[in-house]
Amino acid sequence: MQTVKLNNGVEIPVLGYGVFQVSPEECERCVLDAIGTGYRLIDTAQAYYNEEGVGNAVAKCGVSRDELFLTTKVWITNSGEEKAARSIDESLRKLRTDYIDLLLIHQPFADYPGTWQAMEKAVKAGKVLAIGLSNFYPDRFVDMAEYAEIKPAVNQLKTNVFSQQWDAEAEMNPYGTRIMAWGPLAQGDPDLTIHPVMVGLAEKYGKTAQQVALRYLVQRGIIAVPKSTHIERMKQNLDVFDFSLTPEDMESIRPLDKPADFRWSHRNPELVKFLLNYDKQFNPNNKG
Ligand SMILES: NC(=O)c1ccc[n+]([C@@H]2O[C@H](COP(=O)([O-])OP(=O)(O)OC[C@H]3O[C@@H](n4cnc5c(N)ncnc54)[C@H](OP(=O)(O)O)[C@@H]3O)[C@@H](O)[C@H]2O)c1
Repeated sequence: MQTVKLNNGVEIPVLGYGVFQVSPEECERCVLDAIGTGYRLIDTAQAYYNEEGVGNAVAKCGVSRDELFLTTKVWITNSGEEKAARSIDESLRKLRTDYIDLLLIHQPFADYPGTWQAMEKAVKAGKVLAIGLSNFYPDRFVDMAEYAEIKPAVNQLKTNVFSQQWDAEAEMNPYGTRIMAWGPLAQGDPDLTIHPVMVGLAEKYGKTAQQVALRYLVQRGIIAVPKSTHIERMKQNLDVFDFSLTPEDMESIRPLDKPADFRWSHRNPELVKFLLNYDKQFNPNNKG
């Protein structure tokens, strides 16, 4: 698996497997399938409520821990130095590991500077190898990157052919922070498979539009973590290393970039309220 080097020297696979919206019941099977297919990077989060499923798969998969790369994220309700520190220990327990390869602040809300302090301490204690951010738009990102003693290794952002994140990338470059793409397949948006540029490139290379979309990210040095519960799609999504897009192909994708939809913007107060209350609504342990 091709890797990229983070700003602290840690190597991360450029393509991984994400488990957002994979149910706790299904997660172990999916991660076992993904590892069996060849994925080594697994991306979970406290707020996916399936870290145990990932941990069980890690324990059963037969691939040694040092060949795997585990990412998880501290949720808003665990923000602040003390709570975040406790939640990191809880994630380690659920993931059945004594270190996390990459730990992110999931959302730029509540006491995230306190969370960062706990994460820096976890790095110094050997519990975490690299730390980063997620959903930090350029203004929030620069604030955190200036504040941080350990500069963020990645910022996980919605990044795909329709959301190319050029401005974010330009702000992150001086800190050596890489984009890690969530939603790399545009979260199943059917436009991906009917857009003429994607259709044309898929035909040119005998690949699917999804494979072209992932190849586009890999060639930009962007780490991507597509999700699928189907093993055939897992295989397909990993099979993007036997062709290259030309510079002209890459340029032909550039006009597909669209302005962000305000409904899903982290600057939309309604979305912020939704995320602040997410745990109450979706945590299976919060019954009633
Ligand atoms: N940091 C954050 O805030 C954040 C937010 C969202 C996601 N993430 C991370 O990023 C990962 C990926 O993002 P995502 O899950 O939102 O979206 P995504 O990977 O862009 O798209 C997943 C969707 O595409 C479908 N799909 C996957 N492979 C396919 C293929 N080869 N052909 C056709 N359809 C395919 C999946 O359906 P099936 O499963 O039915 O195949 C699913 O509906 C997540 O799992 C999570 O780890 C992070």
